[in-house]
Amino acid sequence: MAGPIGVFDSGYGGLTILEGIRKRMPEYDYIYLGDNARAPYGTRSFDVVYEFTLQAVKKLFEMECPLVILGCNTASAKALRSIQQNYLPYNAPNRRVLGVIRPTAEVVGDMSHSKHIGVLATEGTIKSQSYNLEIKKIHPDCTVVGQACPMWVSLVENNEFDKPGADYFIQTSLEKLLSKDPQIDTIILGCTHFPLLTDKIKHYLPKGVKVVPQGQYIASSLEDYLHRHPDMDQQLTRGATCQYFTSESCVKFRECASLFLHEDVTAERITLN
Ligand code: DGL
Repeated sequence: MAGPIGVFDSGYGGLTILEGIRKRMPEYDYIYLGDNARAPYGTRSFDVVYEFTLQAVKKLFEMECPLVILGCNTASAKALRSIQQNYLPYNAPNRRVLGVIRPTAEVVGDMSHSKHIGVLATEGTIKSQSYNLEIKKIHPDCTVVGQACPMWVSLVENNEFDKPGADYFIQTSLEKLLSKDPQIDTIILGCTHFPLLTDKIKHYLPKGVKVVPQGQYIASSLEDYLHRHPDMDQQLTRGATCQYFTSESCVKFRECASLFLHEDVTAERITLN
């Protein structure tokens, strides 16, 4: 069986990951699936995020994707391990599901001089401690501090991300993060929506603090993965196409997706259950 690379997100944010991957590997076919009807996932429980994410993965498998990227930090934090360990071996042993946390954790240790790293993400990702655990596994010399930014996804989804009202929420969350550890010199944007807030985030950070979006690192990590797994690479079709699916209205998807992709896309509606 051969097919496209599936990219899943709770909503629109995973489009920043898809964009990074397609820029680096434009020759492959892609399917993007956004569970927009049930987003945000950020405050949902482990069980619910697992259930919803597994439904999306199964849908992408039905659409013949041999490989699925969970382009959502919350889903990667709360569902990836269970899918890899409990679902795939028994139900889809030849398919693979990868997340976005490990590839980000791999690169960030070497970017920091102070070895003090900050993580900005949804409440679910921060509570899961996934970034702390993954970074410390790979870079034991690093100190990792997280800050949940509960309003930020809504600012982006409601197209308020570049408006003056966003400043208060951004400044407050950054102050909270830096007050926990003033030595932080590198900050991971551990949520797919946050790259759209980069200008404002940089404005409120002290000079010299690096901001790390994920798209390009997920892309290089995927490329490396496919080099190391030619058996999987051979199962991926290369027609340079990209199809979009949403669990919400197609019209809404088209309007919002253009904020993330800067181009018009058409989506088809699907039901996840
Ligand atoms: N895409 C999610 C993430 O990266 C954020 C949106 C949500 O809360 O569903 O964590």
